Amino acid sequence: MNGDISRHYASGGILDTIQVALSSIGLTVNTVTEPDLAGVGEFHVGGREATESFIGQLNLEPGQAVLDIGCGLGGAARFVASTCGARVIGIDLSPDFVLAGNEMSRWVGLDDLVQLRNGSALDLPFDDASLDAAYMVHVGMNISDKSRLCREVSRVLRHGSFFGIYDLVRLSDADLSYPVPWAANREMDVAARARDYEMGLATAGFELVATRDRRSFALDYYKRLRQSNAANGVPAIGLHLIMGAGTKTKLGNMIAGIESGAITPMELVARKH
Ligand SMILES: C[S@@+](CC[C@H](N)C(=O)[O-])C[C@H]1O[C@@H](n2cnc3c(N)ncnc32)[C@H](O)[C@@H]1O
Repeated sequence: MNGDISRHYASGGILDTIQVALSSIGLTVNTVTEPDLAGVGEFHVGGREATESFIGQLNLEPGQAVLDIGCGLGGAARFVASTCGARVIGIDLSPDFVLAGNEMSRWVGLDDLVQLRNGSALDLPFDDASLDAAYMVHVGMNISDKSRLCREVSRVLRHGSFFGIYDLVRLSDADLSYPVPWAANREMDVAARARDYEMGLATAGFELVATRDRRSFALDYYKRLRQSNAANGVPAIGLHLIMGAGTKTKLGNMIAGIESGAITPMELVARKH
């Protein structure tokens, strides 16, 4: 299953692709800045806008050690490091994303604060109670054992730490059309109900402090994106650089699922007792 997931996201040659796109807008690896990379480094509904609003609920502080579970190319990790001054350690199953993400952090001078590593959310390579906060953005749709995930995150966090989840959750069993950004087919898609997280969190020693359904935000975000693309063309730095030719179909199927009420982007913020 892990191999299927990293093959689904695998994106060989990603750094070359991004550099070509940067040069098309007059940027190089020496002149690019952290926000310039957000369009490709934030692989989830709502991109940087969603990250800002989500991360703001986690009370992150300078000097904290923060875990980004399923960090991808590290867009959210670089945002956290550059805005909160926290040290972010990202873990991801896909080696291509980890390699490319670390290089992107070097380009923008954040490699001292952001370190991405190859690894699994279900077997975190950290000591018990060694981290100050954790978050996970659009990853749980690939992890079927939510209880084990919550137990593992709880193990590595100190008491009082926040754990934020921003995922697509199921509202009904209605069929989605595939592919979607996180799954090539129904078998790969293990998006669950919010209550599965709520049970996993409670059993693992977390208190749920907030939930927020981001459906309206998401539909508005994609409406604005469509209008902007129609008026100005597709931006050079975007998710098409990693999702390739299937980008339109994958996003279209996901948006149709949100519109129909089968799935919704949901935030859950919990605190370890
Ligand atoms: C849709 S991407 C989101 C990436 C990143 N969180 C973001 O928002 O830009 C999902 C990521 O989760 C990673 N992933 C899926 N299952 C994982 C697991 N069990 N452990 C670690 N990473 C995982 C994938 O490799 C992929 O990079």
